[in-house]
Amino acid sequence: MAVGKISIYPDRVRGLIDPKVYGHFIEHLWTCIYDGIWVGLDSEISNIQGIRRDVVEALRRIEPPIIRWPGGYFAELYNWVDGVGPRESRPVRVCPTQPNGVETNQFGTDEFIRLCRLVGAEPNICVNTSIITPREAGFWVEYCNRRDTDYAKLRVRNGNPEPYNVKYWSIGNECYFMYPPVDYATRYLNWRHFMRNADPTIECIACGIEPIYHPKPWALGDWGEEVVKMIQSEMEYYSVHVYFSSGSEDKFSDEEYYHLFAALENRLTSSINRVIGILDYYTQGKNVKIALDEWGVWHPGHDMKGNMTQKCTLRDALFTACFFNILHRYPSKIGMANVAQTVNVCHSLIITDGGRMFLTPTYHVFDLYRGFKGSQSLEIKIESETFKDPLHRYTERKIPHLSASAAKSGNGLIVSLVNLNLDEEIDCEVELRGSEVIGGVRRILTSRDVRDVNSFETPNRIMPKEEEVKIRGEKFTEKLYPHTLTVLELKTH
Ligand code: AHR
Repeated sequence: MAVGKISIYPDRVRGLIDPKVYGHFIEHLWTCIYDGIWVGLDSEISNIQGIRRDVVEALRRIEPPIIRWPGGYFAELYNWVDGVGPRESRPVRVCPTQPNGVETNQFGTDEFIRLCRLVGAEPNICVNTSIITPREAGFWVEYCNRRDTDYAKLRVRNGNPEPYNVKYWSIGNECYFMYPPVDYATRYLNWRHFMRNADPTIECIACGIEPIYHPKPWALGDWGEEVVKMIQSEMEYYSVHVYFSSGSEDKFSDEEYYHLFAALENRLTSSINRVIGILDYYTQGKNVKIALDEWGVWHPGHDMKGNMTQKCTLRDALFTACFFNILHRYPSKIGMANVAQTVNVCHSLIITDGGRMFLTPTYHVFDLYRGFKGSQSLEIKIESETFKDPLHRYTERKIPHLSASAAKSGNGLIVSLVNLNLDEEIDCEVELRGSEVIGGVRRILTSRDVRDVNSFETPNRIMPKEEEVKIRGEKFTEKLYPHTLTVLELKTH
C-alpha cells in the first residue's frame, strides 16, 4: 500500500470555476444528432417535440451549462438557411459526416435551441468562414437575436416569436487546416464585424490552435500567435482543441494507460501555459478566456469516415476527472470547455442505438463533479508517489499517482481524489488547513478493471457508489482504491 497526502487551503481561493467548463459539443457527425438526439415527432422512440426523452432526462440531471453546435468539421460545410422553415420542405444535401452520406436538415437552429431550452443550456453556435459570407453570418445572428429585421420575422413565421438571445458564437472551426493565419484573422475580423452589427452584445470565440500542433505547412510557426497578433482584444474567447489517445480503446497495455495520463498532464498544462502567455502579451489587458471547445480521448480506429462510437472505459472516465482537476488550477483563464462529444461520438457521455440507451462512466464523472460548477477553486498541495511517462523518452517529469482538486461549494467543500495507480491502494491523508469536517457524502467510481465499460447489456456495471462520511475534524485518512475516483462533498465549519 502507498501513502499520499493532500493539504487543502480553504482561505486561498484561486478563483471561480466557470460553469461553462462543464460544457458539451454535439455535431452532425455519425449518429450524434440523428438517433442520438433527434428522432422526429413521429418516432416510436419517446420524444419531446422530436428530441429523445431519455437523452433530455439524462442531460437535465447533469445540467449542461452550454452546448456547442453544429460542428466541428460539419460547421464548415453548413449553410444555416437549409435548416430552418417547415421540416418537410428542407433540402437534403450531400454530407460526408453522415453515415448515409446525406444531411436531411431535420435538426436545425430552431431544434437546437429547443434542445438547449429543454436541458437548461446556453447555445454556442459555430459559424463557418468558408462557404457563407460575413453578411450571411450576420443574418444568422439576426435570425436568432433580433425582433425587427426580415430574418427576425422569418424566425417568428417559423413559430418562434421570442428572440433566442444566443450570446456565444464561434467563428470558424480548426481553420488552421484551411488558411494561413493572416487569412483567417482577416476573415475573423470581418465576420465579427457583421455579426456584431446584428447584435453588439454577442461574445465571439476565435479559432486558435494548440501551440505544439503544426498540421499544415502554413502552421509551421505558431499559427495561433500570428492570429492573436492580428485580432488582439477583438475576441472574448480563444479556442483550442485537445484530443488524446494511447493504445486501443479497451485493449490498451498498462504502459499505454500511464502514458495517457502523463500526456494529459504534460501536454495540457504546457499548452494552457503557452496560450495564457500569448493572450496576456497581445490582448491589451482584456481577460480573453481560453475555450477548450473540443476535448476528449479519441481512440484509433474511429476516423471521421467510419464508426465514431467508441467503447468508453473506466480509463476515459478517470481521464475526465483528471482533465477537470487540471482545469480547476486555472479558474480565471479557462472560460469554457466542451466535451467531444455528448452522444455517440468519441468521448461520449451517452450511447444510443434506436430505442436503447446507456450512460458511459464519463457521464458519471460529470454527475459527480456537479458541485464544482461555479464554486471557488482552492489551492491544494499534493504529495504522492510518482511515475514517469513509460512511452516517452524525452521527458523525465514525474507525475503523481494522485490527481486532486478542491473547491468551496455552498456551506462546505468538494474534493476530488483520483488514484491512478493500477495496483496499489493509497492511504491518503486529507488535511484541511483552518477548517473542520462535520460530515458529508463520499461517492466512488471504479470497476475491477480500467478496461471495463458499460453497455446495452450491462448499463450499470460502472456506477457511482455513495456512502456517508462519518469522519470529523481537520485531518482524516481516505482509502483510495486502485484506478478509482473518489469525490467528497464535505460539510465544514
Ligand atoms: O469531434 C470530431 C472532430 O474533431 C470535429 O468535427 C473536428 O472539429 C475535430 O477535428
